[in-house]
Amino acid sequence: MTHQHSDKPGVAIVTGASSGIGRVYADRLAARGYDLVLVARREERLRDIAADLRQRHAVNAEVLAADLSRPAGVAAVVERLSGDASVSLLVNNAGFSALKPLTDTPDNVILDMIGLNVTALTVLSKAALVAFKARNAGTLVNVGSGAGFAPYPGIPVYGSTKAYVYLFTQSLQSEVEGTAVRVQLVLPGAVISEGWDVAGGAALEPLPEAIVMTTEDCVDAALAGLDLGERVTCPSLHDETILRDYEALTGRLMQSMFDGKPAARYKAGG
Ligand SMILES: NC(=O)c1ccc[n+]([C@@H]2O[C@H](COP(=O)([O-])OP(=O)(O)OC[C@H]3O[C@@H](n4cnc5c(N)ncnc54)[C@H](OP(=O)(O)O)[C@@H]3O)[C@@H](O)[C@H]2O)c1
Repeated sequence: MTHQHSDKPGVAIVTGASSGIGRVYADRLAARGYDLVLVARREERLRDIAADLRQRHAVNAEVLAADLSRPAGVAAVVERLSGDASVSLLVNNAGFSALKPLTDTPDNVILDMIGLNVTALTVLSKAALVAFKARNAGTLVNVGSGAGFAPYPGIPVYGSTKAYVYLFTQSLQSEVEGTAVRVQLVLPGAVISEGWDVAGGAALEPLPEAIVMTTEDCVDAALAGLDLGERVTCPSLHDETILRDYEALTGRLMQSMFDGKPAARYKAGG
């Protein structure tokens, strides 16, 4: 008797697939045999990319034009994800930055950035985990940033949204413990993409070549990290012990915060 079974990995939803890192994710996942759902606002671009993927990789590629800074856009992706049991991978990649001090950042930019980088990523992560846990299968990939590790001048909101992605995504690890569902946090450093122009960086000196990575190298490293079973992947971090030390130290700091007595330095009359 022959077993009918498919080696197809299923459907991958990639947000921000119209350019930069997301576009390369779509390409690499298609090369791995995934059918694609491409999400972003620029529908024409997505159509061209989908046609190219179908042609080069013999996979199905579908366009879902949505503004993920808006609840309706997020809801459309949630619906697509929740209504199809063959969705096995969500890459929460869409995000943007603005290189401005807070006082010079228009309110609508602040709201859109938090809406996309934080709210959409959170709601889509939830939809993915609900679906994946029900089938005990599936992978969630959230794209944060090295900019979320420490305050950096000129990106007060962006860096903080990525600090959220750092804590939030790792918080989900405990929710999938003991299941076959995987959650990977990807933390790129500086990557050459249109995102730099969107942020307003085109008006500045270009970043030194030695510190910027190509989108291809970034995504290939991120997928290699996924294949290795990593929970946190930093494509440009050569010395892994820095991340391990950081995790150990922040864990120790958090534990040390829980004490009922004020620290000695705060006692009146010292
Ligand atoms: N480039 C870097 O140096 C770097 C470093 C660390 C982390 N990252 C992160 O990597 C991710 C991808 O960035 P990138 O550098 O590839 O930037 P990018 O080339 O500007 O791509 C951003 C993608 O997000 C989509 N997007 C933007 N606003 C959206 C919205 N409201 N609704 C839906 N889609 C939206 C864009 O498509 P549409 O405009 O068509 O909607 C585009 O496809 C982001 O989360 C970014 O924070 C980038």
